Amino acid sequence: MIQILTSPEELRLACDRYRSRNRRVGLVPTMGALHQGHLSLVDTVRKAGATRVVLTIFVNPTQFGPKEDFERYPKTLVEDLSLCREKEVDLVFAPETAALYPPGYQTHVEATEITREFEGRFRPVHFRGVTTIVAKLFNLTGPCVAAFGRKDYQQWRVIETMTRDLNLPIEILGSPTVRESDGLAMSSRNRYLNPEERRRARAIYQGLLSARNAFTAGERKPLTLEQIVRSSIESSFDSIDYVSLADPLSLVPCRSETVERAVILVAAHLGATRLIDNTVLGEDDLLLS
Ligand code: PAF
Repeated sequence: MIQILTSPEELRLACDRYRSRNRRVGLVPTMGALHQGHLSLVDTVRKAGATRVVLTIFVNPTQFGPKEDFERYPKTLVEDLSLCREKEVDLVFAPETAALYPPGYQTHVEATEITREFEGRFRPVHFRGVTTIVAKLFNLTGPCVAAFGRKDYQQWRVIETMTRDLNLPIEILGSPTVRESDGLAMSSRNRYLNPEERRRARAIYQGLLSARNAFTAGERKPLTLEQIVRSSIESSFDSIDYVSLADPLSLVPCRSETVERAVILVAAHLGATRLIDNTVLGEDDLLLS
């Protein structure tokens, strides 16, 4: 039977109880509007040895800027809970905002270098909100294995950095991006796209694929690889925030003439919807968990 909790203290007690019975806790933090990408995170923690899965659903206000989509972010709790039941998730934590940010709340967690570029530049408060809420969830859950989607590549690396820097007893896993049949990365925000935008959205993945193919064929110039992605997106999207190659671990933008391994990060707008995606080049050399 699935357990549904809204109180932070109850979540802490439940996870302590799991561990006292030698269960390994797997944590899947989400903002709800669940899709196959989220459900694959459940598989990822199970594969890593979790015998109890805790999935959190909380649309975290502190990670949205004033002009962003906090108000319209999809809320589908009933459907989410039924997906969690089907997936045999053990516990869903779905608190009210005031349970995590009571009046007078004033403490934040921030990673600095790794949040400077890309999402951090275009969404200035975003990562501070993410690291704050994830640190709080880690504190409540205690020692566990936690999975994050590699679709939000920078977020995954930021959370890894925070966990290491604060000596948190959490194993972080980056779970492969789950894609629709035309390659569009699954995202709760895909629900915002009208049919015409949805058709155009596949250009991101096509661009990333073309760059990967060029890399496999021997292309090593960051600017050329970037241009391949850009030209695919330009004709279909309304505007591009960035297309950029960076070091896959530090997220420092590539400034060298050639690259042997890099992540290509993309963010672009289709109407009122902002989509992000990425691909890693030379990932065979990387220990991608
Ligand atoms: O990726 C998300 O859904 C959110 O950023 C997270 C990690 C659940 C924190 O609110």
